[in-house]
Amino acid sequence: MRQKIVAGNWKMNTTPAEGVGLLKGVAELKKEVCACVRLIVAPPYTHLCPVAEAAKGTGIALSSQDCATEAKGAYTGEVSASMIASLGVEYVILGHSERRQYYGETSDTLNKKMAQAFSNDLAPIYCVGEKLEERETNRHFDVVRAQLEEVIFNLTSEQFSKVVIAYEPVWAIGTGKTATSDQAQEMHAFIRKVLAEKFGDAAQETSILYGGSCKPSNAAELFAKPDVDGGLIGGASLVAEDFIAIAKSFAK
Ligand code: PGA
Repeated sequence: MRQKIVAGNWKMNTTPAEGVGLLKGVAELKKEVCACVRLIVAPPYTHLCPVAEAAKGTGIALSSQDCATEAKGAYTGEVSASMIASLGVEYVILGHSERRQYYGETSDTLNKKMAQAFSNDLAPIYCVGEKLEERETNRHFDVVRAQLEEVIFNLTSEQFSKVVIAYEPVWAIGTGKTATSDQAQEMHAFIRKVLAEKFGDAAQETSILYGGSCKPSNAAELFAKPDVDGGLIGGASLVAEDFIAIAKSFAK
C-alpha cells in the first residue's frame, strides 16, 4: 500500500508565533484523521525550530520549502540541508513551480539540491507541473516527462524509494482553478508510467500528490482517484480546520 500524504505548504505566510499556533491547531484536530494518512507541514525556515519543537510527539512531520545547493560556506542568505535536518525535519520540497518561475531554478539546480537532501537524510517532495500555455498546446506530458527525466532519473533505486512526487499544474496554483479529478488521474498515471520505465515496480510504491487549489470541497473527489495518493496544499493549509478537512477526505 502506498503511503497517503497530506502536506501543507505554508509558503511565505504567518509569523513564527502564528505558525506554532497553526501547528497546534492541526495537532488538536489530528485525531479526526485516518491514521493511514501522514500529515506534513512545511513552514518557512524561520519557523522550523519552534514548529519542530511544538510538533514533538504529535506525529506530524516537518518539511522545509527548499534547501541550498551547497553543503556550507560563503553563500549569504542560504540555508543548508544539514541545518534543516538537524532540527528533526524529515522532508524538503524541491522544484516548486514558484521557485522554478521566480528564482530561475533549473534541473541543474535541482540535481544539486537533491544531492544535498540525500546526504542529509531529507526525503524530497519533488514538484512537477506544466504552465497553462503548455497544456493548451498539448505539451503537458512532454514537460512533466522532462522534469522527471532530468532530475529523478539520476537517482539510485534506493534514493528513489524515498521520493514523494507532487503534480502541481501551474495554472491551478493559487488560482482557485483546480484540475478536474480526471485530469489529475490522467497525469498521475502518466507520471507513474514514466517512473516505472526507469525504476520498474518501485514506481507502484511512490506517493504522488496533487497540488493546486485543493480544498475541502474538492479533495475527496481528487483523492478517490487510484493514482492520487494525497495532496500538497497551499492556501487551504493555513487554516487548521480546512487542512484537517482535506485530510479527512481519506476515510477512517
Ligand atoms: P494552492 O498551492 O493550494 O494555494 O493552490 C499549492 C502549492 O503551490 O503547493
